[in-house]
Amino acid sequence: KRKIILDCDPGHDDAIAILLAAGNPNIELVGITTVAGNAEVEKTTNNALKVCEIAGITDVPVFKGSGQPLIRNRETAPDIHGDSGMDGPVLPEPEKTFEDEHAVDFIIRKLMDSDGEISLVPVGPLTNIAMAMRREPAILPKIQEIVIMGGGTFGNWSPAAEFNIFVDAEAAKVVFDSGVPITMMGLDLTHQALATKEVCARIASIDNRPAAFVSDLLEFFRQTYLDVFGFEHPPVHDVCSVAYCIDPSVVKTKHVRVDVETKGELTYGMTSVDLLGVTGLEPNVNFATELDHTKFWDMVIEALNNLPEQ
Ligand code: BDR
Ligand code: CA
Repeated sequence: KRKIILDCDPGHDDAIAILLAAGNPNIELVGITTVAGNAEVEKTTNNALKVCEIAGITDVPVFKGSGQPLIRNRETAPDIHGDSGMDGPVLPEPEKTFEDEHAVDFIIRKLMDSDGEISLVPVGPLTNIAMAMRREPAILPKIQEIVIMGGGTFGNWSPAAEFNIFVDAEAAKVVFDSGVPITMMGLDLTHQALATKEVCARIASIDNRPAAFVSDLLEFFRQTYLDVFGFEHPPVHDVCSVAYCIDPSVVKTKHVRVDVETKGELTYGMTSVDLLGVTGLEPNVNFATELDHTKFWDMVIEALNNLPEQ
């Protein structure tokens, strides 16, 4: 089993990423850590707890993390995810609570106790990961791999920058410069992970509560992606990182140099992806370029089928 810590800001696609991780037998979800991103950290934490509850995920602890980026002021995405960060599905308040330990402390403790078999899967701003690296640099050689959803060769928050990187580019810089093996699911890849009508019909035909929840999530997400970006189908970005952990052959990657821009007036939060090797710098990232759409959605649907009926 592959051990992962999922660091997230649910978030419609974050929620589906949690369900895929929990529903796949080859993943051991060591913990869920939360961060401010799509909404304030109190909301993203509450959303993570709700997802666990609706999917019967009782054995995975949830840790609340950073509420503010390292340097910048917080920015959230209510136009895309609604005010709660996960608008659409109507869910009861969770009974499950988050742990007392801070997410950053949990990440450090788990990694220090490990023999290098844990991967980090950050699918929100990189604040928690950067904080952990700065607080305890001895974790660096312990991290098996970091599978980031973020960045790309174009932006969705500014023309140059993707949301997760833009929200805390200083944190992203710490992580991309860390020397830890990184695989990156940027927008180039995640915009191939579209919840088409056909995919939604397959999900709708699954007769359990987690699948009904995903249908509600996708209905809301479809509308905001249409309104804001004019997309016909919404891309479920964060799910790509978990799918890669389950089966790396679901994407094709290119080993390239990626650096994070933290100074530019128009380019703040941009990931500079050296696809042609023009910098001559040592590659530091497996950059995902192509998704096997069929394999990807088969994986998600299988996981939803595996989740318990609530
Ligand atoms: C990323 O931003 C968030 O809105 C999504 O959850 C995803 O992590 C896509 O840019
Ligand atoms: Ca996210």
